[in-house]
Amino acid sequence: MAIRYDQQRSVFHLQARDTSYVFHVTKQGYLPHLYWGRKVRGTQLDRLLELKERASFSPSTELDQLALSLDTLPQEYPGYGNSDFRMPAYQVMLPNGTTVTDLRYASHEIVSGKPALEGLPATYAESGKEAQTLEVTLKDEPTGLAVILSYTVFESFDAIARSARIVNNGKDTLQLQRAFSLSLDFAHDRFEMLQLSGAWTRERYAHKRKLEPGLQSVESRRGSSSHMQNPFVALLSEGATEDHGDVYGVNLVYSGNFTAGVEVDQFHTARLFIGINPFDFSWRLEPGERFQTPEAVMVHSSEGLGGMSRSFHDLYRSRLIRGTFRDKTRPILVNNWEATYFNFNADKIESIARTGQELGIELFVLDDGWFGKRDNDTTSLGDWFVDRSKLPSGLEDLVGRVKRLDMQFGLWFEPEMISPESELYRAHPDWCLHVEGRRRTQARHQLILDLSRKDVQDYIVKAVSDILSSAPITYVKWDMNRNMTEIGSALLPAERQRETAHRYMLGLYDVLERITSAFPHILFESCSGGGGRFDAGMLYYMPQTWTSDNTDAVSRLKIQYGTSIVYPVSAMGAHVSAVPNHQVGRITSLETRGNVALSGNFGYELDLTRFTDEEKETVKEQVALYKEVRHLVQFGDFYRLLSPFEGNETAWMFVSKDQSEAFVVYVSVLQEPNPKLGRLRLKGLDPNRDYKLDGQDAAYGGDELMYAGLAAPQFHGDFASRVYRFRAVE
Ligand code: GLA
Repeated sequence: MAIRYDQQRSVFHLQARDTSYVFHVTKQGYLPHLYWGRKVRGTQLDRLLELKERASFSPSTELDQLALSLDTLPQEYPGYGNSDFRMPAYQVMLPNGTTVTDLRYASHEIVSGKPALEGLPATYAESGKEAQTLEVTLKDEPTGLAVILSYTVFESFDAIARSARIVNNGKDTLQLQRAFSLSLDFAHDRFEMLQLSGAWTRERYAHKRKLEPGLQSVESRRGSSSHMQNPFVALLSEGATEDHGDVYGVNLVYSGNFTAGVEVDQFHTARLFIGINPFDFSWRLEPGERFQTPEAVMVHSSEGLGGMSRSFHDLYRSRLIRGTFRDKTRPILVNNWEATYFNFNADKIESIARTGQELGIELFVLDDGWFGKRDNDTTSLGDWFVDRSKLPSGLEDLVGRVKRLDMQFGLWFEPEMISPESELYRAHPDWCLHVEGRRRTQARHQLILDLSRKDVQDYIVKAVSDILSSAPITYVKWDMNRNMTEIGSALLPAERQRETAHRYMLGLYDVLERITSAFPHILFESCSGGGGRFDAGMLYYMPQTWTSDNTDAVSRLKIQYGTSIVYPVSAMGAHVSAVPNHQVGRITSLETRGNVALSGNFGYELDLTRFTDEEKETVKEQVALYKEVRHLVQFGDFYRLLSPFEGNETAWMFVSKDQSEAFVVYVSVLQEPNPKLGRLRLKGLDPNRDYKLDGQDAAYGGDELMYAGLAAPQFHGDFASRVYRFRAVE
């Protein structure tokens, strides 16, 4: 790892583990991008920069150097208005109402380690040796506008973290209209773009398309990263597959409105960008003020999409996620939501917890409905005190009853919300996001608290902390069940109203920082109607996320496979639920429901007391198996074998870092008559070691399992599955 500056050639060469990132400073002070990809040694990549005089439709910046045009120059942080006609990375409105600025190189600094991002989640380094950071300052002299581009390279990961800080060093107020976290120009457009898109209960399906001239992008205008799009895109070079070829992934460490995409220009170059969505955004910068963009994490892999995913997983598990649970295996839980919904009492809860304990489950989670007067979803969000009609002896008593069973206790909250039918709303009707004189649009009968306000932030911290201090709670599910409408704040002046959505995120991050650091022994799981906010921003505060409200084993194949493209399996909650499945009505075997949920943070979300003795035996076996393999599932290397987006079979596997153990999951969705034969080739094993399959005496060579494969399992019936556990022969 190193960041080098070749002064003679004015070239910056950044090296992460096996990655190089190179850019140049022209004598005019522009920053042409030269290369991002597999590691190279030299710094002379400025010779790649071929300038060519074009027609007047790509104007030149210099009269004596007609080949230099911003419209064709690959750039690190392009602007708009003075001859680059492509998608700009930033735009600032000046006091005279115009938006033309011209950033030029002023200085740079290389520091060891990685400075934190003010008020925002980000990857981190634990020591100066792990990472190096380059900060390049660009200036627009007439206005005093400065932009500091930050690049961190990591010693042990093929990852680079980028962000920008916009500073007003001038005398006048500036109005920031866009500020991306990353912009980068590829010299060609021969890529496919991969995105993760979907809907509630159908999150993060993988979609690929060939790049075409013009703009192709994804975005969220919902006030959260959303179920519909994820703040991620990857470019797959021609012929790149799961295991081979160059893949470039970018992911935003942010949970609010974003945009990400690629613009292919007239010369078939491709501009990749990601950042806060400029739609409905602006930010007022008074003299002396600064704006920090969220961080974009860039991963290059020369080993296909699988290599990219494993780099994201390793980086996020160890240098994004923080706290006590970062390196700890996570408990097996039972959650009462699909078991009881709002209809429970202390005895019912205790009976589910007792059965859970008998089956080996470690944590009971009390979901929605324990507070205020919440017998359905029309009331009480904001009233974070226990409902004595359901739990007459209080929360402490219930937690005590569960603890005495030798089970941990977890609790659900939805702290960012307010029900119009609540004591909180009657006391503070102006505490929600709203626009005076307009309808307050409800979704699930609720409004959103205005987290841009300090008083609201403090209220949430106190209300949640009071409950968490009142009983020995060891897990929290932090939910958020709607998107933003009427995005206005009662406290902001007119000229700052369009800051509300981002101020909300800053407020949320502040609240999360305060609560999670005050309760370091609590495992936090974020949730937003399942996976509506499954992003790296939330993972910085909460090491895991409820992947989807869809618990159907077959639906989960695509959801978990798609999610794994960026996010580590240790971040994905996966539960066995009842059949017919509550979301899609499908009936699948308990075995297959278990086998799919075992590939995540495992748990159950049904009434365990209703299981037959035979079913209880199956559950006991599943729980015991998970305890044996969870270190692999949560901390091993993840390999995708067969994609649910491409066929009837799905398979994936986990390999321990020392390659001594592996766990393989194989699911066949529909049974075909007279099914084809086939082989399942494994990945990631040591070719020189032999492995024993649990339950068999014979050993298989790692080489044999990877190159020749196993005979693919044959099934009778739909939704069938099988798991394999391999251990290296010592
Ligand atoms: C959301 C969550 C569910 C459950 C309900 C409770 O939909 O995703 O898991 O907690 O809220 O209302």
